[in-house]
Amino acid sequence: MTVRLAPSILSADFASLGAQVAAAERGGADLIHVDVMDGHFVPNLTMGPAVVAAVRRVTTLPLDVHLMVTDPDRFLDAFAEAGAGILTVHAEVLPHLSRTIQAIKQLGCLAGVALNPSTPLSAIEEVAGEVDLVLVMSVNPGFGGQSFLRNSESKIARVRQLLTGARSVADIEVDGGIDPGNVGLVVAAGATMIVAGASIFGTKDPESAARTLKGLALEAAGAGRR
Ligand code: DX5
Ligand code: ZN
Repeated sequence: MTVRLAPSILSADFASLGAQVAAAERGGADLIHVDVMDGHFVPNLTMGPAVVAAVRRVTTLPLDVHLMVTDPDRFLDAFAEAGAGILTVHAEVLPHLSRTIQAIKQLGCLAGVALNPSTPLSAIEEVAGEVDLVLVMSVNPGFGGQSFLRNSESKIARVRQLLTGARSVADIEVDGGIDPGNVGLVVAAGATMIVAGASIFGTKDPESAARTLKGLALEAAGAGRR
């Protein structure tokens, strides 16, 4: 198993989004992570399908769309239409999680389920065999640039156990506060997709920041022979 880097454009300079995405791509980005916030599920407002469509026009990388919204079912079609490759929804807002996962797949996208730091694994136990990825939030969602919560490491390891038990090879994505100092730890714990915003786009040289982070992640994955 290898590890992929998904720079989050939340911390990018929106006035130069095309150039910022291109820099991340040159630095080895494997996907582009788009944080959609509705000011309700999380206390912030960000982007919608129009931004996804705009990013779709400037890169061939898959778009990894993270829906931090109260009613994601209403918007799945619009994001799929805009060019999302992965649609990740939060378990906390979905009483019929399996139905939403199937709806995402029917739209031709990969289906992800995200867990807030305080949400137990049991929220995804029954759908472990259906999901394409599990996103472990390592900060409370809403803003870029927050500090990594250390207990996320053990949560990643427990998600891997749950997936293995369900005979699933789904990705585990970690999102929030990832930087060169902790990326190796989360990869060692079992993360296969790394989201990073501030530690890439908050620097003067996003291309080289992405390259450094990806190098460290691959090194850790190699060390674990995964
Ligand atoms: C937080 C978002 C993250 C955020 C990560 O609510 O889901 O994707 O952009 O940014 P950093 O890496 O700056 O914590
Ligand atoms: Zn995110």
